[in-house]
Amino acid sequence: MILPIFFMLSFLLSSSSCNALDFCVADLKTPQGLAGYSCKKLELVTVDDFVFSGLHTGNTSNLIKAAVTPAFTAQFPGVNGLGISIARLDLAVGGVVPMHTHPGSSEIIVVIQGIIDAGFVSSANKVYFKTLKTGDIMVFPQGLLHFQINAGTTPALAYVSFSSPSPGIQILDFALFGNDLPSNIIEETTFLDGAQVKKLKGVLGGTG
Ligand SMILES: *[C@@H]1O[C@H](CO)[C@@H](O)[C@H](O)[C@H]1NC(C)=O
Repeated sequence: MILPIFFMLSFLLSSSSCNALDFCVADLKTPQGLAGYSCKKLELVTVDDFVFSGLHTGNTSNLIKAAVTPAFTAQFPGVNGLGISIARLDLAVGGVVPMHTHPGSSEIIVVIQGIIDAGFVSSANKVYFKTLKTGDIMVFPQGLLHFQINAGTTPALAYVSFSSPSPGIQILDFALFGNDLPSNIIEETTFLDGAQVKKLKGVLGGTG
């Protein structure tokens, strides 16, 4: 009688130890693919892989007076493969996160402090725009251009969560005016004139 129970127990124990993959903490030394990173060896994983202390502040000393401080896979390897991540958004007075997209992710913002004008533009070019107060949340569907502006007279703080561990961020102004895309191509593709393109390249660090 004891023996079958023993076998059953040992079977259960051994099957649970080779169970389904519960998580896949990113091994950041491996190459990143579309599905994420390879998994860190289980025996090397600790609780600290699931904790991140990098969102206590955000530095808004920059051109846009705003900071998106990410806890994406690259900073927070524990979210690898889980379809989720988060970032801290700080907007100083006058701060703005210019029109941008996260190609691989939807986003939810929750306003913790201050007032934020936020909106997105659908692929039918319809605008969905709202002034968000402390405690409000808003969702930005995957891939659509959206923005956040501090609409108040005090610094604003929000957290933004994503439906991807590596949502990426592409800011439209920098894509157009912050690199070496030739000015004549920008003029042709945006209908802006040369002086406007030159000015925007100057502000946003573009060349060419
Ligand atoms: C914030 O960023 C600016 C510009 O990059 C830098 O000079 C400054 O040291 C940073 N401040 C902190 C507290 O990290």
